[in-house]
Amino acid sequence: MRDNDRTEAKQTANAEPKALVAQEGSTALAAHDGSTPLAAHDGSTPLVVQGSDLSLAAPILDRYASTPGSLITILQELQDVYGYLPEDVLYHVADRLGISPAHVLGVATFYAQFRLTPMGRHLVMVCKGTACHVNGSDRISATVEEYLGISGGQTTADGMFTLENVSCLGCCSLAPVMMVDGEAHGRLDGRAAVRVLEEIRAAEEDA
Ligand code: FES
Repeated sequence: MRDNDRTEAKQTANAEPKALVAQEGSTALAAHDGSTPLAAHDGSTPLVVQGSDLSLAAPILDRYASTPGSLITILQELQDVYGYLPEDVLYHVADRLGISPAHVLGVATFYAQFRLTPMGRHLVMVCKGTACHVNGSDRISATVEEYLGISGGQTTADGMFTLENVSCLGCCSLAPVMMVDGEAHGRLDGRAAVRVLEEIRAAEEDA
């Protein structure tokens, strides 16, 4: 990552760092055989190339491509357009900016605000704020992660659930809280949290 991007990144609101899964010079964006689904991607294998409509990126890249240190702004606006950051769009950004794909992926994976997979049909947010933490939110998130087979920030392979860990859902009196599709479920334990998700899954399967 170049110095100017690091500087810009530090100044960007809501740019919380997350695990860096690919760094400059890594081979994470090498050719791929399609065997590793994006939903389960952990950075140890290359990403799957997709067929995104790159014309959607043109106005954003036209606006910022010649502005130094604009990579994070570009990624933020692209995510607003696509809902996440598809791999082929990241390649396209690298090409337009004249930087390596590994550099772009390094920035995209460093900050929690960026998503490399599409949102699931149901957004599950487990609160890890103080009130929820002291009331056992770690056990809830561990149980939910085990049930869904994913970690925070990931989407299940069937596209049904996206799991996010958040810092406060604004209803601390209900701690510990899990919010699903905007509906808060309070005073949960792990089993009750999983029951909420099982009901959603069952309703989709019956539909
Ligand atoms: S800390 Fe969990 S809702 Fe506020």
